[in-house]
Amino acid sequence: MLCRYFGSCGGCKLQDIPYPQQIEIKREFILKQSEKHNIVLPNFEVIPSPKEFFYRNKVELTFSNVPDGGLGLGFHRYKRNREIVDIEECLIFSERLPLLLSRIKEYVHSLSLPAYDKFSHKGFWRHLLIRRNKEDVFTVALSTSSQFSPDKEGLLDALGDLDFVRNIYWVFNDRLGDAIAFEDVELLKGDGLLYERVCSTEFIIGLRGFFQVNPWAVESLYCLVLDLVRQYTSGKVLDLYAGSGGIGLVLAKDGFDVLGIEMDDGAVSEARQNMLNNGIKSYSMLKGNVRALLGKNPDWVGKFDTVILDPPRSGMPEKVRRRVLRLAPSNMVYISCNPVSFMSDMLDFIKEYDMISFSAIDMFPHTPHVELMAFMQRKGK
Ligand SMILES: C[S@@+](CC[C@H](N)C(=O)[O-])C[C@H]1O[C@@H](n2cnc3c(N)ncnc32)[C@H](O)[C@@H]1O
Repeated sequence: MLCRYFGSCGGCKLQDIPYPQQIEIKREFILKQSEKHNIVLPNFEVIPSPKEFFYRNKVELTFSNVPDGGLGLGFHRYKRNREIVDIEECLIFSERLPLLLSRIKEYVHSLSLPAYDKFSHKGFWRHLLIRRNKEDVFTVALSTSSQFSPDKEGLLDALGDLDFVRNIYWVFNDRLGDAIAFEDVELLKGDGLLYERVCSTEFIIGLRGFFQVNPWAVESLYCLVLDLVRQYTSGKVLDLYAGSGGIGLVLAKDGFDVLGIEMDDGAVSEARQNMLNNGIKSYSMLKGNVRALLGKNPDWVGKFDTVILDPPRSGMPEKVRRRVLRLAPSNMVYISCNPVSFMSDMLDFIKEYDMISFSAIDMFPHTPHVELMAFMQRKGK
């Protein structure tokens, strides 16, 4: 199966390579990065995604004005980021996308309004964000400027008979930047939530919170971490960059005492809701910046047996790495979706810790990305 937009859409750069070979390429890349930094990795395989296609749970499409008139809706074009490739399907999102897109396109075309132009800042239609769960139930958010009046009833009518669309939002965004902003959001249908089960823990997926993009493969990641933490640790866990609770809640559900740290409002409130929904008592969440909270809490030194680190792609700033090391936990788990920042951050950690287990999980088939997880123990422990 090869996507008809392969080569023009910037999304799936490895899609013309058979999946087993993609796994090998990712393994080679990880090894190359580790050798570059003289890091010796324990034996590992790249664990394939249980689903090779239709695995993503989130997609963000952009509207554009087409030169011959009319509108496009799709992804940024490969190497020509200013252009949008109009799409009718996406082989890594959901098989239900074509039906949804045909309805959305019919609806927006019927109103004859222009797409928002990010250079002139004029126009209406901006983005379409879709989230879904493993059962293929959708949350749809249509984002526009406020330069024309929104036809909310028309949108509800257009999607009304699609029973897999549980939630519909209208998002007004007059910011100059090209990303969706969620400051002015109106829920038109549903309660705004989807539900997802991972490692026996139920998670809500709201419009804004963080959730790993491949809910099938995340099961492997969380279960691996849970097994290692069960096997090697006892005592309190500090979960830095906690998202909507994710791995920290899975550990807390298993009986561990976990403190999560996260700076995003939406993710923090989802984590607290997830805790209540799962009847978890041994989890708490602090909202704030990891660096600032580590600096403000000197009494955390020596208090946590295990620290989990799951930073954004760019990795951790040096000062934060130093503050984490100062906590002197017996164990650390470092999760990263970027082998380059993973290896360079790891250089600091392996001075004081032995990497006793390493795994790579392919959360992102057909793309060059891969998720890494290292379990480390303090030297001489
Ligand atoms: C890769 S996600 C973490 C996922 C989470 N551990 C899970 O299992 O689902 C990274 C998270 O770090 C948060 N974040 C980024 N920089 C941060 C900072 N300086 N302080 C606190 N949280 C931060 C982001 O909002 C995001 O939710």
